[in-house]
Amino acid sequence: MTVLLPYMRIVLCITGATGAIYGYRLLLAVKDLSNIESYLVITKDAETTLKLETNLDYSDVSALATHVYDENDFQAPIASGSFITDGTIVAPCSMKTLSAIANGYEQNLVSRTAMVSLKEKRPLIVMVRETPLNIIHLRNMVSVAEAGGIIMPPMPPFYFNIKNINEMVDLTVGRVLNMLGIETTLMKQWGVD
Ligand SMILES: Cc1cc2nc3c(=O)[nH]c(=O)nc-3n(C[C@H](O)[C@H](O)[C@H](O)COP(=O)(O)O)c2cc1C
Repeated sequence: MTVLLPYMRIVLCITGATGAIYGYRLLLAVKDLSNIESYLVITKDAETTLKLETNLDYSDVSALATHVYDENDFQAPIASGSFITDGTIVAPCSMKTLSAIANGYEQNLVSRTAMVSLKEKRPLIVMVRETPLNIIHLRNMVSVAEAGGIIMPPMPPFYFNIKNINEMVDLTVGRVLNMLGIETTLMKQWGVD
């Protein structure tokens, strides 16, 4: 008997660029949606930024996910293309991880699962974060975009009259989820109240 999977599987990777709050609030949003399973990887350096920027520990954040894997766990299901997912989000994505993805250097589970998404033609959303950007950063973004990845730097839409940081972050979280076909009330549309 053939049975449809009754839920979505989203891979979420948090790396050590500033903006750990994007990964955290994405996880919160996904947790609120009962038909989505989250598969989380937090790099060692993201543990540092999470603590510095949000005062959250690895255990606080990982407790929100359905499944959690160590960044060196290449036996995780998400390391294999045979494990079906609905997409991978790297939020935020450091220039180091961007470079690993752009160059096919699968040195940890984040770059491996991102490469799996690309080879399987599944959505890969890369929330790159650095400023200013040098030519190497820009070339790496082009490589990932040419391979089918979506380069989505977290850039707030100030035209929505943002009142606080959580609201600002959630506007982007809503757009990211929308790109994976997940419609939420976090996604505001210009001209729609
Ligand atoms: C507070 C803090 C902020 C950082 N912000 C950035 C950033 O915005 N972009 C970036 O590429 N790296 C940033 N870094 C450096 C990365 O953490 C570092 O390159 C790290 O090795 C990335 O590893 P990962 O991609 O495996 O998490 C930051 C580091 C710290 C401590």
